[in-house]
Amino acid sequence: MRHYNYNIIAKADHSLIDPIIKECLNVDWTHPSFERHEEVLKAGRMIEYPFPVTTRYVFNEIDRRILDSTIPLLNWIKSLFEDHLWIRGEIGVLLPGSSLKWHRDKNPAFNWHELCTKIHMPIITNPSCFESWLLETGTDDVHMEAGTLYWFNHKEVHTAYNNGEFPRVHVILSLLPENRWTELVEVMPRLKNRFVYSQQIIYS
Ligand SMILES: [Fe+2]
Repeated sequence: MRHYNYNIIAKADHSLIDPIIKECLNVDWTHPSFERHEEVLKAGRMIEYPFPVTTRYVFNEIDRRILDSTIPLLNWIKSLFEDHLWIRGEIGVLLPGSSLKWHRDKNPAFNWHELCTKIHMPIITNPSCFESWLLETGTDDVHMEAGTLYWFNHKEVHTAYNNGEFPRVHVILSLLPENRWTELVEVMPRLKNRFVYSQQIIYS
């Protein structure tokens, strides 16, 4: 069945997910280094990938270990989206009992989100974790299963919450069709160098 706000793309092999779970279970996600500053997402925690649209390129050892553990997964996703490149990504974490505010993914300076496809790969979750979209009558809620890759409608008003007892961890990527890259670089020329740099960092 096709849904308006989310859709299953594929299921990943355990060998792609298990090493990430192992790294993520060792982490204290309440540590301030994982805090995020966007007003509507403040309840969340993250490690942001060093992709072209990012706010930082500095990583400590824990960040690096977790990001490295996701490389085989990224390569697999890349094989599913051959004509795309990722311009932003994060390990997105929701602590137990927390929720984001209702929002659309937007950037005030230049809304590159409009050009992107957003995907979620749940790594660690529990039955009380939901992604939710605001409808005129109620909400559209889904519990996303670990190890399943989802297309996610980031352009409609949505939130996420974790009413469980353990942190929820998703790999979240913004994929840009290659033919839109030139368009984006025209508006944000600095992304060109950042792209080269981000490839070097992630594969170094
Ligand atoms: Fe969002």
